[in-house]
Parts: sequence; C-alpha cells; structure tokens
Amino acid sequence: MASSRFVLFLLLSLASFSYSHQIQETFLQCLSDILVPNTFLTPDYADFTPLLTSRAINLRFTTPSTPKPEAIFTPLNETQIQTAVICAKKLGIQVRVRSGGHDYEGLSYTSVMNSSFVVIDLSKMRGINVDTTENSVWVEAGATIGELYYRVAERSKTLGFPAGICTSLGVGGHVTGGGYGTMMRKYGLAADNVLDARIINANGDILDRKLMGEDVFWAIRGGGGGSFGIIVSWKLELVNVPETVTVFAVTKTLEQDATKILYKWQEVGSVFNEDLFIKVTLAGSNVSGTTNKTVSTTYQALFLGGIDRLMQIMNVNFPELGLQKEDCIEMSWIESVMFFAGYPRNVPPSVLLEGKPSFLNYFKAKSDFVRQVIPESGLDEIWKIMNEEGSPLMIWNPYGGMMNEILESSTPFPHRKGVLFKIQYVASWMDPVMEEKHVGVLRKLYECMTQYVSNSPREAYANFRDLDLGRNDKHEFIYDIDDKRLSWGKMYFKDNFERLVAIKADFDPDYFFIHEQSIPRLSRGTS
Ligand SMILES: Cc1cc2nc3c(=O)[nH]c(=O)nc-3n(C[C@H](O)[C@H](O)[C@H](O)COP(=O)(O)OP(=O)(O)OC[C@H]3O[C@@H](n4cnc5c(N)ncnc54)[C@H](O)[C@@H]3O)c2cc1C
Ligand SMILES: *[C@@H]1O[C@H](CO)[C@@H](O)[C@H](O)[C@H]1NC(C)=O
Ligand SMILES: *[C@@H]1O[C@H](CO)[C@@H](O)[C@H](O)[C@H]1NC(C)=O
Ligand SMILES: *[C@@H]1O[C@H](CO)[C@@H](O)[C@H](O)[C@H]1NC(C)=O
Ligand SMILES: *[C@@H]1O[C@H](CO)[C@@H](O)[C@H](O)[C@H]1NC(C)=O
Repeated sequence: MASSRFVLFLLLSLASFSYSHQIQETFLQCLSDILVPNTFLTPDYADFTPLLTSRAINLRFTTPSTPKPEAIFTPLNETQIQTAVICAKKLGIQVRVRSGGHDYEGLSYTSVMNSSFVVIDLSKMRGINVDTTENSVWVEAGATIGELYYRVAERSKTLGFPAGICTSLGVGGHVTGGGYGTMMRKYGLAADNVLDARIINANGDILDRKLMGEDVFWAIRGGGGGSFGIIVSWKLELVNVPETVTVFAVTKTLEQDATKILYKWQEVGSVFNEDLFIKVTLAGSNVSGTTNKTVSTTYQALFLGGIDRLMQIMNVNFPELGLQKEDCIEMSWIESVMFFAGYPRNVPPSVLLEGKPSFLNYFKAKSDFVRQVIPESGLDEIWKIMNEEGSPLMIWNPYGGMMNEILESSTPFPHRKGVLFKIQYVASWMDPVMEEKHVGVLRKLYECMTQYVSNSPREAYANFRDLDLGRNDKHEFIYDIDDKRLSWGKMYFKDNFERLVAIKADFDPDYFFIHEQSIPRLSRGTS
C-alpha cells in the first residue's frame, strides 16, 4: 500500500518534472534570439529563489508550498518583452507580470488557478525621463514610485506627483490600479494624472494611447493590473507643490478623548481645504506603562503650505485635535515623502534610488469605503475588537476635494463623490503559525463593519486585492455576471465593471492575460 503510493508519487513527480522541463526548454528555445545571460532563470539556478523573493512583498506567498513559476524572465528592453509574449502565447504558457511585487495576494509571482506559469519581471526596466518644460515624465513600469518622486524632486523643488505613500510600490501595478497618496484630495489619483502609456498586447504589439484607443486607455487607468496587457511605461503629468510643505503626527488614546476626536474627524476630514490631508491609523495598545488596554489613533498630515496657514485652518475646523505649532514641521515635498514612508529624519532622500522594499512581513488586508459618519457607539464596537489579541490595524484615509470632482465613470475607479473616507484593515505577523489567529480577527472586524460602510455594492479598492471577495476559477470559464465568484467585480469597479468586461473581450479576445481576479469572460453584459 505504502510502497504503491510511493511509486505513484514518483511517477507523478516525474511527469510534472518532465512537463516543467519541457515548458522551460521550449520557452527558452523560442527566446534564444533575444536572450542575454542571467535573464532567464529556472528553479535549478541558485539565483532563482533570491530573485523570486526580492520583490515578493508578502511573505505569505514565499513559503515552500506556494506555487512557483517555471521560470522568471527579466527583460532589459521592450523587444524582449514582445518576444516573450509572442512565445508564451504560441506555446500556451500562462504569464504573470511583476513590477514592484506589492500585490496583496501575490498574484504577480504565484498562481492558484494554474499550476504552470512563468513570471515576466520588469525590475530591470526602470528608466525615468523628466521633462520640466512640459511638466511631464515618462517612467518605465519597473521603477518604484520612490525613484520617480526622487527624480522629479531632483529637477524641481515645485513639482511632484500624486501617487502612493509606500515608496517601494512598482509604477506598473500601482498606477493601473488607481494609486492614492497624500495629495489625492488636491490632485486625485495617480491614474487621474496619466497622459499616455505604452502597452504590449497579447499579439506582442506595442501600442501607445493613439494606437490602443480611448477605451483601452480608459481601462488601464484603474482597471487593475494583469488584465489587458503589459504596461511598459507611463507618461504622467507632474503637479505643482509649494517649496515648503508642513507635516505633523499626533497620537490620541481613548484616555485623551480619541473617540470624540475621531468622530469629529469623520465630519471634517473630507471637507477641509484640499491642501490638507489627514490620515488616521488606529491600533490596539496599552495605557502607557501599564497592561491596561486602550486604542491609539495617530493623525498624520500633509499640508501643502506653511505652518501659519495650517494652524488657522486647524483652529477653525478641527480644534478638537489640539494641534500645537510645535507638533508641526516645515520641509520640502520630497522630505514629506520620506516622512510618510516612515524614514527617520536623518536618512537622505537618495535612499529612494535603491528601490528596495522597506519591509517584508506576512500580511492580509481588506478595504471598505465609508459614506456616512460612524456613530460613537460604532467606534466603541471597533475598540472592543481592536483590543482582542491579534487584532489588525485600521488606516482611515480622507476623501473629498478633487475626488468629489471626478465622475465615477471617468476612469474604472468609481469611489468618488460622497465617499467620506476609505478604511484599510491590515493584519500582519512575523510567525507563520499566527496566520489563522490574525486573519480570523481581521474577518470578524470586517464582518462587524458591514452596518457602517458602503453597501449595494459594498465597495473595495482594486489595488488592495482580496481573494476573500471571490476569484476566477478556470481559464476557459464563461461566467454569468451574478456569479458569486465575481463579487469583487462590482465591489472594485461598480458599474464600470461591465465596460471593463466589454473592453477586455475586444482587446484580448483569447483571454491570454488572466489571473484570479483578471477581468473575466461573461456570458452577457458584453455589449
Ligand atoms: C506595503 C504596501 C503599501 C501600499 N501603499 C499603497 C498606497 O499608499 N497607495 C495605494 O494606492 N496603494 C498602496 N498599496 C497597494 C499597491 O498600490 C498595489 O499592491 C499595487 O498593485 C502594487 O503594484 P506593484 O507593481 O508593486 O505590484 P505587482 O505585484 O508587481 O503587480 C500588481 C498587479 O499588477 C499586475 N502588473 C504588474 N506590473 C504590470 C504591468 N507592467 N502591466 C500590467 N500589469 C502589471 C500584476 O500582474 C498584478 O496583478 C500598497 C501595497 C503594499 C504592499
Ligand atoms: C533588446 O535587447 C536584445 C538583447 O540584448 C537586443 O538583441 C535587441 O537589439 C534590443 N532591442 C532594442 C530595441 O534595443
Ligand atoms: C493554464 O494556462 C494555460 C495557458 O493560459 C491554459 O492553456 C491551460 O488550460 C491552463 N490550465 C488550467 C488547469 O487552467
Ligand atoms: C500590554 O498588555 C499585555 C497584557 O494585557 C501584555 O501582554 C503586553 O506585554 C503589554 N505590552 C506592553 C508594551 O506593555
Ligand atoms: C487599569 O485598569 C484597572 C481596572 O479597570 C483600573 O482600576 C486602574 O486604575 C487602571 N490603571 C490605569 C493606570 O489606568
């Protein structure tokens, strides 16, 4: 019995070995004309695992049992990506594209729907070309937004770009999923500030905005990564920033009236002057010096102006926070980027050019959008769960300002007018055995929040990918729009989902670019 099982195991592993081997060989052969040394690695290379994990931000997807690619190809130029796409399509190999590797569910470097796939890793394609006469920049997909910010700031003290807060995000995945940061109330999302793009379609053609057409150009500005093609570079419009901006970070615990202050923040955070962005991080903690439980709420702000004007606005609109001049620091915009990314003050911004992830941990996150102020009794309910062992953090991000001005249908990102703030729930841990505990409390908090957040649909942010919201099953599957496996479609995109489905059917009719939450093939709604 045991030995026949062993023989079966041996046969199966031999079969899968030779199948892998065959894919690796045929793909390699097909690429041979354009291949340069050390850019095509299979698992038998010593450098394979270090390369795979170098941009695998979520340690949950680096365990031995996580499905691994058959190979990682690291192109150095557009021609090589084109060839890789043509070869993969011809040979029927599934492709995953990775820019910064921050996908919450690891979908740029692992797969649960198809055991055989290769990764095209764009980490060697990170050119940045700033044009200060036109106030624009061409940036390649593999660059991090930190590198982008640095290159812009290097050329001008009064130009910036409104994208994410964590500086190691890849431009490729981040911008195509929306991309918000500290200037969103003034300038909208990264995707709202795209002028042009270069994308490689499933036939291996390179298309710019004119060639791809306005439908596809619409779809890639918020429709999420990995669905339409490989974005090679973006042309972005730079925005004006003052030479001096102001930041602060102030923490209030329950003993310091955190509940009343947060209640007030909900009312004012999205209606302030749009130069002011105050996000709040909520976390369970202890009363200082004791083991008594409390909750800390940390208000972190960017103000596009000096301290005096900031103090005036705060005194009129949000005196409850009790902000003092001494809490505020004036600095340049690039220094504010460093402040929000969590770097100590003495670290020079040039560290951003290293383009490295600032931290790696095991995590699971979820998101919600809030359109009505949560009553104090609701906040009390939240505090109770946050005091449980293994509770997640919550990050509350204000909306309003420019986010109210842009129509829901202008881009695939629909969470616009009327949103007061977005909630991100983040559970993280360093010991893998703690996963069940942390994910359990995370889901419980999310469940409890149902009554306080947007509904029909309950909205979620595409860039905070969450496979709890459903996932595509099979390559060939044709779904009905009401299929539960597709709940994420309406949650991420609301009514824009149908338009994304139609554009996908038109632009990638063979469904070459697919993953667990790529825009699916529908039996209807594809008008
Ligand atoms: C620590 C951390 C902090 C974050 N902070 C923010 C924040 O402040 N603001 C915010 O908006 N979001 C934030 N995010 C979410 C982030 O925007 C998304 O995870 C985003 O998709 C990351 O892009 P990436 O290129 O780094 O990831 P990847 O994992 O490389 O890609 C993400 C998805 O896009 C696809 N993709 C990648 N490159 C391309 C390409 N060139 N063309 C087409 N498809 C591609 C991938 O296949 C995958 O499906 C954060 C995430 C993390 C882990
Ligand atoms: C891209 O790189 C390959 C391999 O080095 C080379 O043969 C090709 O000419 C390059 N193409 C361009 C457009 O630079
Ligand atoms: C895996 O992907 C390939 C290429 O996209 C496809 O032909 C094959 O059917 C997929 N296998 C499964 C099990 O879905
Ligand atoms: C907080 O309190 C818990 C017990 O409630 C204790 O285990 C923990 O060590 C305390 N943490 C700190 C930083 O004091
Ligand atoms: C800690 O909690 C206990 C019980 O609620 C209370 O009696 C005590 O005063 C608290 N200590 C502090 C420092 O808040």
